[in-house]
Amino acid sequence: MTGIAQRAKRVSPSLTLEITAKAKKMKAEGKPVISFGAGEPDFNTPEYIVKAAEHALEEGMTKYTPASGTDALKQAIALKFKKDNTLEYDSKCIVVSNGAKHALYNAFSALVNPGEEVIIPAPFWLTYPELVKLCDGVPVYVHTKAENGFKMTADELKSALTNKTKAVLINNPCNPTGAVYTRAELESLAKVLENTDVYIISDEIYEKLTYTDGEYYSIAQYSENIKDRTVVVNGVSKTYSMTGWRIGYTASNAEVAKAISSIQSHTTSNPNSIAQYAAQEAYLHSEGESFLESMRKTFDERRKLMAEKLAEIKGVDFIYPEGAFYVMVHIKNLLGKTSEGGAELNSAYNVATALLGEKMVAAIPCESFGAPEYLRLSYAISKEDIAEGLKRFKEFAETAKR
Ligand SMILES: Cc1ncc(COP(=O)(O)O)c(C=O)c1O
Repeated sequence: MTGIAQRAKRVSPSLTLEITAKAKKMKAEGKPVISFGAGEPDFNTPEYIVKAAEHALEEGMTKYTPASGTDALKQAIALKFKKDNTLEYDSKCIVVSNGAKHALYNAFSALVNPGEEVIIPAPFWLTYPELVKLCDGVPVYVHTKAENGFKMTADELKSALTNKTKAVLINNPCNPTGAVYTRAELESLAKVLENTDVYIISDEIYEKLTYTDGEYYSIAQYSENIKDRTVVVNGVSKTYSMTGWRIGYTASNAEVAKAISSIQSHTTSNPNSIAQYAAQEAYLHSEGESFLESMRKTFDERRKLMAEKLAEIKGVDFIYPEGAFYVMVHIKNLLGKTSEGGAELNSAYNVATALLGEKMVAAIPCESFGAPEYLRLSYAISKEDIAEGLKRFKEFAETAKR
């Protein structure tokens, strides 16, 4: 019995990494690459958070903490839920992990038995199906429609439910579509799930990056019954520009939290003690609000510029994003054409490769996001780069010929 486990073989390699690695290499060679590939805010972590980490070091907070995180951080997170989402969680319902990705993996590990299904609305963040497969579960895709703003409807959800459905994944705001569900839309999904025993994994990592009117609504707010079966996933990575610090968390019922904590205690133990203290201060310090608002405003301005410039490009379409920092660009009209440089544009991956090679613009092809006719463009870059990058993209798209 030799070789790699079936579980590991089921995980797909990432196409996006190839493009971003190539773009990085070209940049390092001094080429004027503009990358729309970023998956993280381009801001520094605010100074007050860095100072908090320095303080933690000076105070010797350098030892193991409880596996599920320090009580002080869990209380700060519980306060955040109360303030932002009117959700009450006891600290024993919160588990702090090494980023939201790890929190998601823990949640699937705690809930999914072999062969059980997890419903994932497509387009999706490419990691979800891989995590489900790693837990021996089966991803079931609901192909959402552009005319519905890429949001799963109650009818679509109803038709995807089977007696093997263990959980439904909701990512709001959504990476890669930028879609934000309204309260009414989430209520209609909650109604479908109310009299079932299906869990909801609600990934709310982009919660603070919405540009529409109206308060952010978490599906866990719908009723006690729905809250009890919802695992909310969130973290500081995108909110406070802390991607490298690796702090994310789940909030769930106490039984699920206990299972998650137990898994974590044997796999990674506690998340980094210094980062935990910094995350606690990120939430509690009064400077947090003003940082959030200024980052959100900057992203909103860039979002509008993206939309304005993309609208000027003939032959491509896009969905106006309402949250996160991505735009999905529909490139169906480019497929089947030949680029000015002679590349055959037969797939989003080919388009992205040719765009990088010929115009030094990096974009993410969305085959692995369940959207093979789209590119994902991130606006976590400066306005100058957005303008220059989309100028080059326009030349590329408008000179391609059939
Ligand atoms: C939708 C979504 N969820 C979770 C994560 C992971 O966040 P973290 O860096 O905290 O692991 C990302 C990161 O790109 C994301 O886009």
